[in-house]
Amino acid sequence: MMTAATALPLLGLRITAGPVELRGVTDDLIVPLAELAVAGIHDADFMPFYTPWSLTPPAEMPRSMGQFHWGQRARFSVASWGADLAVFYDGDLVGVQGISTHDYLITRTAETGSWLSRRHQGKGIGTAMRQVICAFAFDCLDAQEITSAAYADNPASLAVSRKCGYTENGCELRSRMGKRAILQRIVLKPAGLVRYEHELTAEGLVEFRRSIGLDLADEAS
Ligand SMILES: CC(C)(COP(=O)(O)OP(=O)(O)OC[C@H]1O[C@@H](n2cnc3c(N)ncnc32)[C@H](O)[C@@H]1OP(=O)(O)O)[C@@H](O)C(=O)NCCC(=O)NCCS
Repeated sequence: MMTAATALPLLGLRITAGPVELRGVTDDLIVPLAELAVAGIHDADFMPFYTPWSLTPPAEMPRSMGQFHWGQRARFSVASWGADLAVFYDGDLVGVQGISTHDYLITRTAETGSWLSRRHQGKGIGTAMRQVICAFAFDCLDAQEITSAAYADNPASLAVSRKCGYTENGCELRSRMGKRAILQRIVLKPAGLVRYEHELTAEGLVEFRRSIGLDLADEAS
């Protein structure tokens, strides 16, 4: 059957590991994700994100959330792609786990980023979903390195990274909402990954690999 995933395999990607499921953000998930974000992600006096999108007024969040994901779809190319996947835990939508790349066929490196609605934080879900996306990138997409970063005053994000096996990779100074902030960069190689207790399975993988330019050379020969 032809669906939107025929045009963009990202939309048909479904990665499952025990209670964790990461799914391409189809249109039906946009408003539920906006509602999760409006319910709260962080304290009012703290900003974990480079772009302060979480401060979007509640009434504008559904459109803003949609435009972000539609923009990601529109820009998806072999040269530069991002996959912000909806995270379900025990069947409940809880947040987003993203991975993004530039020139992936050459660099084989990808950057992770994530958020959970506040009521789902502090229960190990952030660690589990990061372990799953890293295992997916290494095992299913042939990644050789994964990077990430968090502001030095974001202990939960840095703790998740440490638990997954990332190591420190230098600091940068950034302007965060007009104030100076230290950004801690981190990096993970395949041998360093502390794996999730559940094996993953990936539905739509053959199509997704092809959409990011993997396997095309094999097919041509
Ligand atoms: C970062 C985030 C995804 C982590 O998800 P989570 O489910 O809360 O993480 P986990 O429960 O798996 O682990 C959190 C760890 O941080 C630790 N932690 C949390 N707050 C902490 C604090 N103030 N000081 C020290 N450690 C802290 C917890 O103790 C836990 O480690 P432990 O299991 O070894 O005890 C989630 O908190 C979130 O969405 N935060 C807001 C958005 C954000 O910061 N995104 C990342 C941007 S870089």
